[in-house]
Amino acid sequence: KIFNNSTVASKAVALEIADLIRVKQAQKQPCILGLATGSSPKGLYAELVRLHKEEGLSFKNVITFNLDEYYPMEPDSINSYVRFMKEQLFNHVDILPENYNIPDGTLSKDEIAEYCAGYEAKIEAYGGLDLQILGIGGNGHIGFNESGSLQNSKTRLVALDHITRVAASNDFLGLSNTPRTAITLGVKKIMEAKRVILFAWGEGKSNIIREAVEGQVTNRVPASFLQEHNNATFILDKEASSKL
Ligand code: GLP
Repeated sequence: KIFNNSTVASKAVALEIADLIRVKQAQKQPCILGLATGSSPKGLYAELVRLHKEEGLSFKNVITFNLDEYYPMEPDSINSYVRFMKEQLFNHVDILPENYNIPDGTLSKDEIAEYCAGYEAKIEAYGGLDLQILGIGGNGHIGFNESGSLQNSKTRLVALDHITRVAASNDFLGLSNTPRTAITLGVKKIMEAKRVILFAWGEGKSNIIREAVEGQVTNRVPASFLQEHNNATFILDKEASSKL
């Protein structure tokens, strides 16, 4: 779906999510959301905060699982995804602190495998993700599933691509301070989400969007796996869609 700009697009997706939350509330069910970081979903989170403050949308039945976190990373560090999510969304709505989940960047290396299996098991215990929000990396990554990630990959510790580290290096005040690894939800759990929404804005994403949407399904471009999802939508502004 192509929108005139990211603001109207983000508002449309916020309304879809608000509807889903309210339907689940009426059914007395939790609403299980997979959330992303990066600049692309910021407009969505701002609109969800507005819907909470101005239209009474409650997040009391919402359980969230974030896609990824740098490793190692302290939760209160300026670049942590814990901090990002609190600043963008969690601190401004009535979600219960025990209901949001973000991969733990403070584990020791030998704790990670078990932790990742537990993260997936927790999602499964809720019956899977009702909706997964995604951005897309310049190399086609989703979460931190870099080029080469398999369609059945699990939640795991990954090495970040050079291109990903360069994109993040401004935030870390230089490449040498930028983490080399991260924990990411695997492609399999993303593909198992009942609905997937991927955001991309701007001319800079137009080439990778063409590859992901119109190119071959290939693990070189993990976002291309979404062609095989039965309820995935790419939400684009005019610029990001300009090469389609
Ligand atoms: C990081 C995140 C991804 C995100 C990507 C794109 O790599 N781990 O989940 O999709 O950045 O970021 P942006 O939305 O800022 O372009």
